[in-house]
Amino acid sequence: MELSRRPRRNRKSQTIRNLVREHSVSVDDLVFPMFLIPGNNTKNEVASMPGIFRFSTDLLLKEIDTCMSLGIKAFALFPNIPEELKDARASESWNDKGLYLNTIRSIKKEFPEACIISDVAMDPYSTTGHDGLVDANGTILNDETLEVLGKMALAQARAGADIIGPSDMMDGRVGYIRSLLDDEEFTDVSIMSYTAKYASAFYGPFRDALNSAPKFGDKKTYQMDPANVTEALVEGELDVLEGADFLMVKPALPYLDVIKTLYDEFDLPIAAYNVSGEYAMIKAAAQNGWLDGEKAMQETLLSIKRSGAKIILSYFAKEFALLSR
Ligand code: PBG
Repeated sequence: MELSRRPRRNRKSQTIRNLVREHSVSVDDLVFPMFLIPGNNTKNEVASMPGIFRFSTDLLLKEIDTCMSLGIKAFALFPNIPEELKDARASESWNDKGLYLNTIRSIKKEFPEACIISDVAMDPYSTTGHDGLVDANGTILNDETLEVLGKMALAQARAGADIIGPSDMMDGRVGYIRSLLDDEEFTDVSIMSYTAKYASAFYGPFRDALNSAPKFGDKKTYQMDPANVTEALVEGELDVLEGADFLMVKPALPYLDVIKTLYDEFDLPIAAYNVSGEYAMIKAAAQNGWLDGEKAMQETLLSIKRSGAKIILSYFAKEFALLSR
């Protein structure tokens, strides 16, 4: 057969395959999301996320130490708040002596080089489980919520957070938080905006982990419609104008086109959140022997990189780091 073009020649050995490989994932790209619980010497596994634990502060510090020695240097922290500390205004979120802020301070004291990405949203702290303030009719209030988010973000910056991560999807929150931070001279504290965060079924295991599911309704008046991609450009433009340092797409795998769209359109680094449900799917199938979990993980992370994300928040971070040693 006369074939002048034979693409298979570039696949004939591992060395050549390595030479022509276009994309790769490194531990430098990964952020490890971690769940925090009150107490001492306590850890418990999230039932729907095998291998992922909620840690008390002391054990979280040990886990961070282990992860740092594996090369993971960035962590996104989420608190599991006891019901009795929740209220309508999420006031525990700016309680300087509370679990979350205390833990951020401890981490930064023990590991100054660890990069801590905080979470700004009301849901772990609010009685309703919504990310914003709720009025008597069940409407999520935007502008009133900004004040709460602002207090929360400032308290996190004071505790030592390196990057503030607003995950709430209220309009105007990036600019609002940026100006509060700047007014208090936190000009070096970054903002990783959850730019295109979709109203997704893939957050289920996360809400189990934090016991933060909405007590009524859904999040569709603030999180984006999964059918929309052009709308992500509107969110991206606003975040750029309002001073975001990173643009995030969440979830990752069902939204690779959105990652690519933001990557093509904007100059800021794109982050993607490989969320709890994406982790649970692979783990469940692997536990059943239905697919090779490690290979599926590596292929998944690579696909997210390939689509244009520079940074990946993933519950696979530690497992990936262990495999790449
Ligand atoms: C809420 C928040 C959610 C996640 C991160 N921050 C869930 C939600 O919006 O209900 C989900 C992350 C995951 O599923 O891994 N502010």
